[in-house]
Amino acid sequence: MTKNTDSIKTVSMAGATVLVSGGTGGIGKATAIGLARLGARVGITGRDRARAEAAADNIRTASGNPVVDTYVADMSSQAQVRRLAQEVLDAYPRLDVLVNNVGGFWNTRHNTADGLEHTFALNHLAPFLLTNLLLDRLRASASARIVTLSSGAQAMGRIDFDDLQGERSYSGQRAYNQSKLANVMFTYELARRLIGTGVTATVLHPGVVRTAFGAEDPARWHRAFFPLVRPFMKTPERGAETPIYLASDPEVDSVSGRYFANRKPRKSSKASYDVAAQARLWQVSAELVGLASAHSAPTAQTTTGSGQDDA
Ligand SMILES: NC(=O)c1ccc[n+]([C@@H]2O[C@H](COP(=O)([O-])OP(=O)(O)OC[C@H]3O[C@@H](n4cnc5c(N)ncnc54)[C@H](OP(=O)(O)O)[C@@H]3O)[C@@H](O)[C@H]2O)c1
Repeated sequence: MTKNTDSIKTVSMAGATVLVSGGTGGIGKATAIGLARLGARVGITGRDRARAEAAADNIRTASGNPVVDTYVADMSSQAQVRRLAQEVLDAYPRLDVLVNNVGGFWNTRHNTADGLEHTFALNHLAPFLLTNLLLDRLRASASARIVTLSSGAQAMGRIDFDDLQGERSYSGQRAYNQSKLANVMFTYELARRLIGTGVTATVLHPGVVRTAFGAEDPARWHRAFFPLVRPFMKTPERGAETPIYLASDPEVDSVSGRYFANRKPRKSSKASYDVAAQARLWQVSAELVGLASAHSAPTAQTTTGSGQDDA
């Protein structure tokens, strides 16, 4: 990723390939438009073929870049994540950036096709599995980046290792908070495992953004509150600024293991820095997706990133 130093910053991603999960709407689609505008070949994923193709057409028109690919998978299903990863590996000889954007809020407890709680499965296990399945391709494409969408809700999250899937007691908000904290802890552990590989891992809060977020199964407060605050929320384009920055800007080329908001490094919750809990979450996640031997930590220490401190 190259940048000229004129007053208007222009980063070029020509020649780079990017995959944005959940790129058919909201922040993911705006991120895909931004990265396609910079010249990247962009792949987007969504659950529905027609919606994905329509979004790809919009992205081509809005960006002026004709090279936009579509992948269809319900990422709450591990079999579909595995098929998606294989299709991406077959199509892309190199992968420069993976944007783990897919995620959302569901008020009521649902089980996935794998019999797992839906919010935990989609928001945390899907990016965990997809990233691990694409990791060798990212390593081979280094320098490469993995950018994961968390939320300010991570600050209220708690990883309940005794009831990760809300079997004993479920609240949509608690499940969301936990999954977004898991996104941060996953990134910190991943960054540590990627030290010395030239692949970075960062995580971010996009802001409060006007999208279809939570609309499929809204909480009561969501129905009452959102219409009132919608006009004051960020547009998807503004919400995409930090993911685009982390995916493309040379300024953060070697920054890894950090949480960002508004394009600035921020401190994440105290719980997120618990290294033993990060390792435990990784292990439990690997078991739940059947990747018991998911990439182990290398010993070389040649790039930045620990997730241990704030910048
Ligand atoms: N909006 C906010 O204020 C806000 C704040 C903080 C964090 N975030 C985070 O930002 C990310 C994007 O949120 P958003 O607000 O842009 O949400 P959104 O408008 O609801 O978009 C969600 C995207 O994910 C896809 N998707 C949903 N369920 C899926 C599934 N089971 N399998 C595959 N794809 C699926 C949707 O595609 P299809 O419907 O076409 O399948 C869509 O492209 C999420 O991780 C969210 O937690 C959002």
